[in-house]
Amino acid sequence: MASLSSSPWLHLLLLLVAMGGTFAAAGGSGNPTAGFQKVQLADGDFQVQSPYNVPESQRFQYRNGVRTFWVHRNDKPFNTVTHTNPRSEVKLRGHDYSSGVWQFEGYGYVPSGTSGVSVMQIHNEEGAAHSTVLMLHVYDGVLRFYSGAAIEPDIYDRWFRLNVMHDVGASTVAVYVDGERKFSTSVTPSESYYFKFGVYMQHHDQSSCMESRWTNVTLYTKH
Ligand SMILES: *[C@@H]1O[C@H](CO)[C@@H](O)[C@H](O)[C@H]1NC(C)=O
Repeated sequence: MASLSSSPWLHLLLLLVAMGGTFAAAGGSGNPTAGFQKVQLADGDFQVQSPYNVPESQRFQYRNGVRTFWVHRNDKPFNTVTHTNPRSEVKLRGHDYSSGVWQFEGYGYVPSGTSGVSVMQIHNEEGAAHSTVLMLHVYDGVLRFYSGAAIEPDIYDRWFRLNVMHDVGASTVAVYVDGERKFSTSVTPSESYYFKFGVYMQHHDQSSCMESRWTNVTLYTKH
């Protein structure tokens, strides 16, 4: 006859208790920016890249602290040399980093209908074997790591707080939505990195127009 201590139910119960503890720790109700220092950003650090054949004001607006980015599916790239997909994005200029822990914080908004687009990236230095270590894509209302793992299922039509942490030494990234840790992974090391946000059309399921809005963008670091 099975004793209580060898009961599979007891083992399952203990496992669930242990997992509950792990999830609580990973979920982290705390502030992702705790222990970080703010990096001073000037307006000039927000370098806009938008389709070369139309005035910037037709694909980007900065009003009342909110940056709005949009592109159409058949827009041109951001210059005449590149063959990349249409984008209207900010490159955080002058804050490339190659060590330490860095964090992007922004409040984002993606209107329903926008699909097949990257809204935020960690970009490598020009000429690197891979151009990014992280992209956050939106497909049908789901925020994903590239076109893979789902990070947040319901991203449309609301302001969400996004924190993206990059530990350069450990080569890991972590994504927080509304203060909760939702995703982390290890990434391929590169020489240096910078953050981008806005809209950058991807390769499948694109909507005819893609839009995202951003406010209160802040950069943090920890050494
Ligand atoms: C951005 O910051 C301002 C000032 O702190 C605040 O009033 C506003 O609610 C913030 N916006 C969002 C979307 O959180």
